[in-house]
Amino acid sequence: MARDGIVPSTLNGVKAADPGMPTIESPPALSFENVSKTFLVSGDIPLAALRHVSFRIPQGRKVAIIGRSGSGKSTLLHLSAGIEWPTEGAIRLMGRDLAGLGDRERTLLRRETVGLVFQFFNLLSHLSVRDNVLLPAWIASDLGPAAASRAEELLARVGLAGRLDDPIRKLSGGEMQRVAICRALLRRPKLLLADEPTGSLDDENGRVVMEQLLSLSSQEKTTLVYVTHSPELAALADETWTLHSGLLELTGGRH
Ligand SMILES: Nc1ncnc2c1ncn2[C@@H]1O[C@H](COP(=O)(O)OP(=O)(O)OP(=O)(O)O)[C@@H](O)[C@H]1O
Ligand SMILES: [Mg+2]
Repeated sequence: MARDGIVPSTLNGVKAADPGMPTIESPPALSFENVSKTFLVSGDIPLAALRHVSFRIPQGRKVAIIGRSGSGKSTLLHLSAGIEWPTEGAIRLMGRDLAGLGDRERTLLRRETVGLVFQFFNLLSHLSVRDNVLLPAWIASDLGPAAASRAEELLARVGLAGRLDDPIRKLSGGEMQRVAICRALLRRPKLLLADEPTGSLDDENGRVVMEQLLSLSSQEKTTLVYVTHSPELAALADETWTLHSGLLELTGGRH
């Protein structure tokens, strides 16, 4: 199997025998290397939203981020998706350095790699449940039978098989958020970023939606990073990180 001195780290699930050999490892889904983000506010006063943040998230891991309002949680997600730009440091998505890509390449990488779920759904209220989930396929000019059956299958998995043709406005908040999750997963992203996905739901609905988000991510082997204000919902992740005024700390579990 060895070629050019490189052996796969696993072969049919079995570890390569020689620990001394270099291995091909799948890249982390997301990594930050000494990333800082400074905004200029009130004219030109610098505000450090993130300060020297470094981490690697292996593929398939689930990470919860907590922290006070203004601590930098959304900024971290926006940088991860390539929506915002770091002031310093390197960000890699599936091993690809975002700074090394042009605008078009970065947009394509984001579309194919990242699914986004935000607090206020960003659903189109005049479209049906099914069509909202299909939007990413429409944007990618890939609106065929495979996308349609994928959308229906995802919606069935969150209990919305009977609501496919309903306009979004007829759904409850929890149901809308499930639609938003299905839409984010439609194109099988490697990385799902969710910013307070249950923030506008009551505790009970929030827990149900979060459990669905976690179990769909497991089934799909999607890496998940979610922001929450709830320590209880954060505890459902593999690990919890806390942001304190732009500084990141591992504060819970790694199991
Ligand atoms: N576009 C921007 N221009 C200027 N300042 C910004 C901008 N975006 C964020 N900030 C500032 O950066 C800091 C971090 O903001 P961020 O939105 O990441 O916080 P957050 O932890 O998500 O807060 P919340 O829990 O309220 O959503 C805040 O002080 C915020 O005012
Ligand atoms: Mg936020």
